[in-house]
Formats: sequence, structure tokens, C-alpha cells
Amino acid sequence: MAASPSTDTPDPTAAELIAARPHLAMHAMDGLVIDDVPLNAIADDVGTPVWVYSASAMRRRCRMLAGALADAGLDAHVHYAMKANDRLAVLRLFAAEGAGADIVSEGELRRARAAGIPADRIVFSGVGKSERELRLALTEDIAQINVESAEELAMLSAVAAAMDRTARVVLRVNPDVDAGTHAKITTGRAQDKFGIPYADAVPLYRRASELPGILPIGLATHIGSQILSLAPYRAAYGRLADLVRALRADGLPISVIDCGGGLGIPYRNEPAPLPAAFAGAISAALHNLDVRVVVEPGRWLVGPAGVLLASVILAKHTQGSRFVVLDAAMNDLIRPAMYDAWHGIVPISAVDAVAPAAPADVVGPVCEAGDTFARNRMLPPLAAGARVAILDAGAYGSVMSSAYNARPVAAEVMVDGSDWSVIRERESHADLWRGERMPHWLQ
Ligand code: LLP
Repeated sequence: MAASPSTDTPDPTAAELIAARPHLAMHAMDGLVIDDVPLNAIADDVGTPVWVYSASAMRRRCRMLAGALADAGLDAHVHYAMKANDRLAVLRLFAAEGAGADIVSEGELRRARAAGIPADRIVFSGVGKSERELRLALTEDIAQINVESAEELAMLSAVAAAMDRTARVVLRVNPDVDAGTHAKITTGRAQDKFGIPYADAVPLYRRASELPGILPIGLATHIGSQILSLAPYRAAYGRLADLVRALRADGLPISVIDCGGGLGIPYRNEPAPLPAAFAGAISAALHNLDVRVVVEPGRWLVGPAGVLLASVILAKHTQGSRFVVLDAAMNDLIRPAMYDAWHGIVPISAVDAVAPAAPADVVGPVCEAGDTFARNRMLPPLAAGARVAILDAGAYGSVMSSAYNARPVAAEVMVDGSDWSVIRERESHADLWRGERMPHWLQ
């Protein structure tokens, strides 16, 4: 199943896309505004392409999710999956909301700590953590290490014992549930590389309880990303609940269930579960088990909060097609090329936004046919210099960007009410080859 929505219904209009995103508004004079800041003001100052994030949207979403989990009667803790957007300012914002972090590498651990996320609010996921990463996690004394295999458990035990430390371990179980999302971001089927086979979970937990340096405290699952249906969640959490009962029947204590992330967002106008429904699915499976619940959302917290602001370089008319060529490209936002992802594209100018629309392919200047943000998108005539916002680019946007085609990595801005600030400078051209060395025989 593809993550891109069916195209048998007309695309939502710019007005509909804006109305569904509370931090965006179209003003007659200022054009598209994020929080209280006109995107034109940011583009005039910082140039394009530029990523712009709404702090208020991130905060609102974090509170909404935490509130829904609490309302469902869960002792739940939000650990932001920082791979979605790991900028220090974004991490600091979530730290101030009391959220922890879900990390997958030494780099993420160091970033999280640099942003002020306390070690006891950090959980370490990932299918292949190096010994060096495990040692750092133990030195920092992070809250929990999610172990994904018998091999990794043995490695962690050896590392922890040698350091005379005890690792709090959560076993990530592969529940063999298909999340029904794009194949590249499905992680919970038996054939996927992730997690411990379901049938091995209880014996491995018992083994963990006997190993030096290991304290097993719970179970985890993460079945995929951009999940739009609650059914796979219910199935996975039901299977985890069965394991909790089996462990306790065997006399093995367990106090944590890590429910993973993956909650999807409407990029086009897909029906997507609300946090209350997600919390309800967790609570239905786990409410009477007396466990502390961890969730690891990434996309849901930050995706809708960000846009990629770009300028039209030129509009090319050829063979009956119209190509709107932007100064942003697949090196900036790779999701359309990589997952056939649909992102809303909205003109910044109020005049453009209501002008008669005709189909266009929206592309970047990179020398690949895959450098296409949208095909047959109904857009007004967009002349050179016109600006557009590519919506829902707050998650898996800048973090996945590269300097391909020697295109410097774009700047990033955070807006909060009427205030705004650059949170990451645009790369310079000299930055592109900083760190490169000419071998002596070529000098
Ligand atoms: N926990 C674990 C163990 C994960 O691997 C992930 C995401 C998350 C939590 C957060 O998932 P989220 O709530 O953001 O769906 N680049 C892809 C998405 C990759 C997701 C990888 N793992 C995209 O742009 O759609």
C-alpha cells in the first residue's frame, strides 16, 4: 500500500489547506502568514529556500497529545522522536514542555543533551547501536535502552558489566503487524529488520533478567510511520499486553510499555486519527496493567508545524505541460521523490492564491526526473519570483536534506507569535568544501 493518498478526489484548494492548519492564515495585504509573521518578511530577509516552523503549533500539538494520554488515564510520557526534526531550538522547545527524546545515534544523544534534555528523559532506539554508543548511553545514564535482538542484548551486557553499570533495558518486540503505510516506513512485520520475534520475547526477557549488567524493565514496539488507521495499533498493543501477562505469570516483573510512534497526519485531506483516539487504543490494551507508558511520536508533533518556503525560478511551458521550477529541490525535501509523498503547495501572495488555476508540475532544478514535488497540481500562473509554501514540511524535511548538486543546505527559522529567529544559518558555498582535503600529489 502506498502512503500517497488516492487521487480520485479533487485536491483540496489552497483555502482548504490553509483552513485546516490553525497556524497559517492568508492576509489580503501580507499574504500567507505563519503565527503572526508574514512569510514574505522572512523570505525578504533570509532568502529562499528556507524552512519555517511555528513554535506555537509545536507546543499546541505537544500539549494536545500529552493531554489526551492523561485524559485516557495513562501514566504516559512523551519522548519526541528527534529524528523527525533535531534542531536544537526544536528540542529546547519540547524540553520546556517536559517531553523527553527518543534517540537513535550518538549524534542524537549529544544533540539532545546539548539542547538541555535531561538524560533521564532519553530512550535509545535503533536496530544497530555500536559499542561506543552503548558505552556513552551508560555513561550518561539515560532512562532506557531499547534492545532489538539477542545479539544486541549480549553486547550490551558485556559493555555494561565491563563498566560496572546496569542498563535499564526495554525489549523491542516485532509484533508481526502490518501498519498499512508506505513499504519504506513499515517496521512491524515479521520480515522487517526491526525488533525481536514475538515468540522469542518471553524467553529473551527471562534471559535478560539473568544477564550481568542488565535490568529488563519493559517491552516496546514501533510498527511504522505515517499510520492512519488505529487497527494495527490495537493489534500490536494487544499482543504486547498478552506478553505482559505472560511475563508476570512467569514471575518476571515489568513496569514499562513503550508504544512507539508513527501517528500519521493529513498531508492532503486523509482522515487521520486524533490523539484522543490514539490514546484510547493504548488505554484499551494497557489500562489495567499498571505500567508506565512511553510514546515516541515524531511526525505528529512537528510535521504540520513547518513549511518549506521557496521562490519560482521560472515557469517552463513545453509540449503542452507547465513546469513551475522552484529554487527548492529534492536535496531540500526528499519525501516526494522517496515516498511519492503528497505535500500541499500554496502561493504566498493573496492575489496568486485566488487567481484562476491550471495544472502544473512543480519541480526543482536538480538533474533528476524524480526532483518533482507535485504533478498536475492546480495552481495559478506563478511567474518568476513568486513564492510558494510547501506545507507539512516540519518532519523529515531539513533533517533529510543534503547538498546534492552542490546546493548549500537551506536556512531554518522558528516563529513564535510575532517574533521570529533564524535557528540555523544557510550554508555558504565555501561551507560546501570545508573539510575536504586535496591529496599531496594533486597539489
Ligand atoms: N520510534 C522509532 C523507533 C522510529 O523508528 C520512528 C521513526 C519513530 C519512533 C517516529 O515515528 P513518527 O512518529 O515520526 O512516525 N522519513 C520517513 C519517516 C521515517 C520514520 C522512521 N522512524 C518519512 O519522511 O515519511
